[in-house]
Order: sequence, then C-alpha cells, then structure tokens
Amino acid sequence: MSIQWSDSYKIGNAEIDAQHEELFRRANQFLEATGKPALVAFAISLYKYTRSHFAQEEQLMIEIQYPDYQIHKQQHEALILKLDALTRNITDDALNKAEFAEFIGYWLLKHIASTDTKLAAHINQS
Ligand SMILES: [Fe+2]
Repeated sequence: MSIQWSDSYKIGNAEIDAQHEELFRRANQFLEATGKPALVAFAISLYKYTRSHFAQEEQLMIEIQYPDYQIHKQQHEALILKLDALTRNITDDALNKAEFAEFIGYWLLKHIASTDTKLAAHINQS
C-alpha cells in the first residue's frame, strides 16, 4: 500500500513543495511498514514532520499577514488531531491502515490542493 507523489501536487513554492514531498515519503514509509515497532516509529516520524511543516507554514502566514491565516490554521489543527488519533490506534492495536491511507491520500491532498494552493497564490502575487 502506498501513495504516489506527483509534480502536479506542487503549489509553486519550492520550500513548501519540498516539505509536502517529504510528507508523502514519510507517509509511504509508514504504509509500507510491517510490525508494530516499525509502524509506531514511522507514524511518529510522520506526525512530528507534519507538525513541524504546519508550524513553518503558519509562521510564514504570520510573517506575510496572510488574511486566511485562522481558517488555514484550523485545518492544520483538525488534521493533527486526526493524525494523532490514528497514531494512537496503533499503540492500542486498533490500527486501520486503510483508514490511515485514506486520510493521507484524501485529506492531506485536499488540503494541499485547495488551502495550500491559495496560500501559494497569495505569496506569488505579493
Ligand atoms: Fe497548509
């Protein structure tokens, strides 16, 4: 089970694009892992990287006084909560890998394709 990064997911900001690609790489490490220790390790690695990526995006939004900052940040918080819940499922032996893959593939992509793309368009305008 894996998800495929595509250059069409690029939003036009080199730093953010590189971080999104890294998110996919870590998501795939998790999806391809077997056995609880590896699953837990890769889930934590993905979780930590997602948090730091979101924090960097939020810092950038503050710096440029981005008007949609609050909405964008709320989406990040919802994604982090979901990722946290899915990660906890592993330690409770209730991991649903298909649900995890769907979350990554759908919610993360949806966020990149809509919310992050709007941010990049704003950056490129100013
Ligand atoms: Fe974002």
